[in-house]
Amino acid sequence: MARAWGARLIEFQSVTKAFDDGTVAVNDLDLTVEAGTITVFVGPSGCGKTTSLRMVNRMVEPTSGRVLVDGRDVRSADPASLRRGIGYVIQHAGLFPHRTVLDNVATVPLLAGWTRRRARSRAAELLEVVGLPEEVGRRYPAQLSGGQQQRVGVARALAADPPVLLMDEPFSAVDPVVREGLQDELLRLQSELDKTVLFVTHDIDEAVRVGERVAVFATGGVLAQYSEPPELLARPANDFVADFVGRDRGYRGLSFVAGAALRPDEVETVTVGAPGVVSGDEWLLALDEDRRPRGWLRPRATVAGPLSEQELEPGGSLHTLGLPLRGALDAALSSPSGRGVVVDRDGRAVGVVTAHQVLELLSTERAAADSEPEGGR
Ligand SMILES: Nc1ncnc2c1ncn2[C@@H]1O[C@H](COP(=O)(O)OP(=O)(O)OP(=O)(O)O)[C@@H](O)[C@H]1O
Ligand SMILES: [Mg+2]
Repeated sequence: MARAWGARLIEFQSVTKAFDDGTVAVNDLDLTVEAGTITVFVGPSGCGKTTSLRMVNRMVEPTSGRVLVDGRDVRSADPASLRRGIGYVIQHAGLFPHRTVLDNVATVPLLAGWTRRRARSRAAELLEVVGLPEEVGRRYPAQLSGGQQQRVGVARALAADPPVLLMDEPFSAVDPVVREGLQDELLRLQSELDKTVLFVTHDIDEAVRVGERVAVFATGGVLAQYSEPPELLARPANDFVADFVGRDRGYRGLSFVAGAALRPDEVETVTVGAPGVVSGDEWLLALDEDRRPRGWLRPRATVAGPLSEQELEPGGSLHTLGLPLRGALDAALSSPSGRGVVVDRDGRAVGVVTAHQVLELLSTERAAADSEPEGGR
């Protein structure tokens, strides 16, 4: 994974938070948020998502354990300067009602001592970044739609260009259609900005859509599973997670989703028995004379004589084109190269797919199915 300059690593080390009334909100949390990724905390209400998030910017202090940002205990940092490096976005955006949108966005740069002129021009730039027209900057928050307000909230959090962004249910208050637009926008923004984003939601669909890694919390503040979305959907760690991700929506749903729209990518191949094979930076798919998959040759391997099967890593399961998507996900998850091999009805290789591609396709198909009238599924 590309590590962005300026992006920060966040570590929770045996973190527990018990409130004064005895409520244990977070229970012995050990988790690392990789720099430059969007990591999602998801779980039912009251499972400690917000509390965990707030321990990063010291709005809440742990009872025991430590939270580190780039290796440094947040408790050794001055809260004000710590928070300048950490953007914070909440539900309903939390905008100041009596300030214009532009001034709302300019808040943090002004606090950081920028001139009014420079802060405002930065704010105007950011409104454009989050897809809002210039004139919106002159309005007051109440004169904006919910979706626009959330965009302003994101712009405000980005104003000081913080390496870390905490987002607590940022899109939960807007309707599903606007919400999808905001999710797309976040993914687009992240591909340009490369922040370390910690995103909280109670919605598993949102979690697997925006998250590169997803932490599922159970009631009592216990981390139940921390995985990439394909793994989470395909292999829930326990019954709680299985129920939460929705056995019927997520991975079981895959068994029914036809893979007709699956478009495998091309892959570099090599034939078993070929003399003197040298692989480059990528895995090479090894085939027999009939183009049937035999295994994978790892990157930067040199084979002096004819390529034999001993030199290969065994391949994972194969996915037959046109069969339900579940097989494609299994193929990708079981392949040493991370790419599942797709074969035709005769077992000949036609290409490869990643788990990510399968899930993308799944979410499009699911969206299409959801928009059909009741009874049409
Ligand atoms: N200041 C507080 N004092 C006492 N208990 C608290 C306090 N803040 C939160 N809690 C409790 O800690 C637990 C976790 O709360 P938290 O807000 O972290 O949950 P959450 O996962 O964000 O829930 P939601 O999805 O409803 O936002 C809950 O039982 C909550 O009632
Ligand atoms: Mg919360």
